[in-house]
Amino acid sequence: MGALHEPVLLAETLELLAVRPGGFWVDGTVGAGGHAAEILTRSAPDGRLLASDRDAEALAAAAQTLAPFAARARLLQADYRELPALIEEPPDGILLDLGVSSLQLDRAERGFSLKSDGPLDMRMDRRGGITAADVVNRLPEAELADIIYRYGEERASRRIARRIVETRRRSPFRSTLELAEVVRSAARRPRGRGIDAATLTFQALRIHVNRELEGLGDVLASLARRLAPRGRLAVIAFHSLEDREVKQAFRSLAAAGFRLLTRKPVRPGEDEVRRNARSRSARLRAIEREAA
Ligand SMILES: C[S@@+](CC[C@H](N)C(=O)[O-])C[C@H]1O[C@@H](n2cnc3c(N)ncnc32)[C@H](O)[C@@H]1O
Repeated sequence: MGALHEPVLLAETLELLAVRPGGFWVDGTVGAGGHAAEILTRSAPDGRLLASDRDAEALAAAAQTLAPFAARARLLQADYRELPALIEEPPDGILLDLGVSSLQLDRAERGFSLKSDGPLDMRMDRRGGITAADVVNRLPEAELADIIYRYGEERASRRIARRIVETRRRSPFRSTLELAEVVRSAARRPRGRGIDAATLTFQALRIHVNRELEGLGDVLASLARRLAPRGRLAVIAFHSLEDREVKQAFRSLAAAGFRLLTRKPVRPGEDEVRRNARSRSARLRAIEREAA
């Protein structure tokens, strides 16, 4: 892991999950295992963890991080949307730290980065499904514009989609840098100010390719209902679309046997943002199941 891949809102998350010795815990987005290692440390000597992720490379990294706790941790490749059916006993706490990991972003060959050249892939689970190349090279212009607008909240979506379609007529897109350059020129934003002009389009493609928002509200409700009495569910979201889903799901649950632990989302402090820029947009929310 190293300091570069510091888990986001670590202390706050563990506090809200109320991790203590013993118990059964679930991390549905284990990534490189940063939060999971801390859950296992605090639940020693006999707390158990089910750690899953849909990315095989993430699980390999997690296996290394969690090696010292191997006897108490079970690793599983799964989409967290499958977890309600896979969990065999009521958990004391469930964590979802949504979105992409530094591991995925940093590896050019995964195709998530607009800064280093790689194939236009962006799939978290590479066992199947469509790639970002399929989306930009095949979808009709209007559909592409809708995706960029809806999942990127990108105001220049129509112009960007038009430019993508014009460019692919000459030759299909193959690499991330090729696409980033075309998007930047179509977005027409002044360089050197604020975020890279291709960021929102890349975010939109990633969300579409991985169906990130599909069924999120429903799965949160199902996971919450699997909790043990006084069990807790904590979710870290990284963009406003995702956070809106979490907020609404938690609000409905708060009227049905759950207690909201965060009236406002918990955000990282200045120190954390300085150390880890990726934490900038993180928002943590949590609920607790009422006592039986
Ligand atoms: C921000 S990272 C998690 C980092 C982790 N908490 C740590 O401390 O290292 C998000 C992880 O969620 C995974 N992920 C995203 N959507 C998923 C889904 N629907 N099902 C399972 N895993 C998912 C990604 O593959 C990625 O590894």
